[in-house]
Amino acid sequence: MTAAQRFAAISRHFRRRRMARFAAELGVTPETRVLDIGGTPENWKLLESPPRLVLLNTPRAAEDLAGAPVWVAGDGRALPFRDGAFAEVVHLWCLYHLDDPVPAIREARRVLRPAGRYYASTAARDSDPEILPEGYPPSTFDAEEAATIVALVFERTEPERWDGQFFALSTREQVRAYCRHNYIPAERAEEAELPLCLTKRGVLVRATRTT
Ligand SMILES: C[S@@+](CC[C@H](N)C(=O)[O-])C[C@H]1O[C@@H](n2cnc3c(N)ncnc32)[C@H](O)[C@@H]1O
Repeated sequence: MTAAQRFAAISRHFRRRRMARFAAELGVTPETRVLDIGGTPENWKLLESPPRLVLLNTPRAAEDLAGAPVWVAGDGRALPFRDGAFAEVVHLWCLYHLDDPVPAIREARRVLRPAGRYYASTAARDSDPEILPEGYPPSTFDAEEAATIVALVFERTEPERWDGQFFALSTREQVRAYCRHNYIPAERAEEAELPLCLTKRGVLVRATRTT
């Protein structure tokens, strides 16, 4: 197995864990209808019983959506769905791409029915302290502020943070691949002690539309 394949396997393992945790939280069954904004099929393929999914992503993400039976091309800031169309809406690792996440969260709330549930996940700037002690550069939707931002739109929010060592990179080539993937300066890969156990931090913000 090449380093890139090994790294992909590690990422899949990490994603499977985070999706299983999320699916348990959501109470996903094959009957659950979920709108995943900025979504791709990969995450959901990792579940044994995926829900009925509506994936919405930008046209330029077409390649990443290739495995999806159905997906909607659109912009999360102006959703092509009627008010109250969904019981569950998610933004998984998506909102930090936007200059201002608030209009997209407003749109997510608009298409949720009353009592519908919303979930947004994102990583923390202080993830991976073992290789990036100074932290990642700020984005518009980091775990540190995510709950406060979601609370600008939703009446009821509840953040659940994670903070733990999820996987170890055991070869120099894996560390290099990790640095490339996460825009970490290449020299850090050469300096890191092996195996490199990384601490992942982030948050899943849950919210409910109450009116
Ligand atoms: C880091 S990827 C995450 C993909 C997937 N949700 C996951 O967890 O693996 C961010 C996704 O957000 C999508 N995205 C960025 N801006 C968007 C927008 N304005 N509307 C919809 N999707 C957007 C990107 O195309 C990309 O697929």
